[in-house]
Amino acid sequence: MALVTSTEMFKKAYDGGYAIGAFNVNNMEIIQGITEAAIEKRAPLILQVSKGARAYAKHVYLMHLIKAAIEDAEQTAGFDLPIVVHLDHGDSFELCKSCIDGGFTSVMIDKSGLPFEENIKITKQVVDYAHDHGVVVEAELGTLAGVEDEVNVSAEDSSYTRPEDVEEFVKSTGCDSLAIAIGTSHGAYKFKAEQCTRNEKGILVPPPLRFDILEEVSKRLPGFPIVLHGSSSVPQEFVKIINACGGKMPDAVGIPEEQLRQAARGAVCKINIDSDLRLAMTACIRQHFTEHPDHFDPRQYLKPARVAIKEMVEHKLVDVLGCDGKA
Ligand code: G3H
Ligand code: 13P
Ligand code: ZN
Repeated sequence: MALVTSTEMFKKAYDGGYAIGAFNVNNMEIIQGITEAAIEKRAPLILQVSKGARAYAKHVYLMHLIKAAIEDAEQTAGFDLPIVVHLDHGDSFELCKSCIDGGFTSVMIDKSGLPFEENIKITKQVVDYAHDHGVVVEAELGTLAGVEDEVNVSAEDSSYTRPEDVEEFVKSTGCDSLAIAIGTSHGAYKFKAEQCTRNEKGILVPPPLRFDILEEVSKRLPGFPIVLHGSSSVPQEFVKIINACGGKMPDAVGIPEEQLRQAARGAVCKINIDSDLRLAMTACIRQHFTEHPDHFDPRQYLKPARVAIKEMVEHKLVDVLGCDGKA
């Protein structure tokens, strides 16, 4: 199977009451861990590449690794693994164009930090070019807190999406999906301690997602694909391992999976997960070196790290997104 766009995937997800997982990729082990999980669970997949990932690994390497995963799925599992290759948080027309010209099937133009009219203008420019080339476009309204492509967005600068803006935005831009801000946040430190309460174990409990905004947006855009960024849950077992094995991640906190599950069963068609994969990989490698301080062959620690990613993604596909068996 060739790479696909998300059009059909989102339609099926919306009708079926589940969401597609969009996982960030940066190297071979991450791509293998994610795709092996999707093959095993027969799940459709979005692999997304940030500007930083492109700078780290190079467009051409990531593209070939993803195509290799599709070929491997056919050869070893006899499975046509449907993959969308998506640019995450494109910050300019030129970057989006370069990804479209380089074979991506989907791009995000994120001008959510600009005034409404300017966001519309640049998004429309990307949509016109993308649609001429058979590529779909995700846009964003509202601003998430956290780290976006090495830029810190403070909690004070973040803002929820205004439901009263969404119809005009979608109509004027022609975008194919819309990322909205309902209280998720990027990175492993999604909320400051003062924004949270603490549970009986002393672990931070973040403020609940604004399902009222999601509901209002879905009423105004029936059937239109809605996207959630910043949807890692920052599993405390991984934070504990990292801290026990020489790391220092105090008060790392994520979005409770129950709330993501609820979003995935409703209007949200795409859920972005990156930090949880990084945590799984880092926890595994730190633990490996704690237990085997004499190891120095990268295969000795990258192999279990790849398995940790696979297990994390399987869990997300089955227990959070509900998209297993949907490919
Ligand atoms: O939203 C940001 C993603 O997690 C990508 O992160 O810019 O460090 O690749 P990155
Ligand atoms: P997390 O940092 O919560 O994994 O979010 C990833 C993301 O939104 C990528 O665009
Ligand atoms: Zn994001």
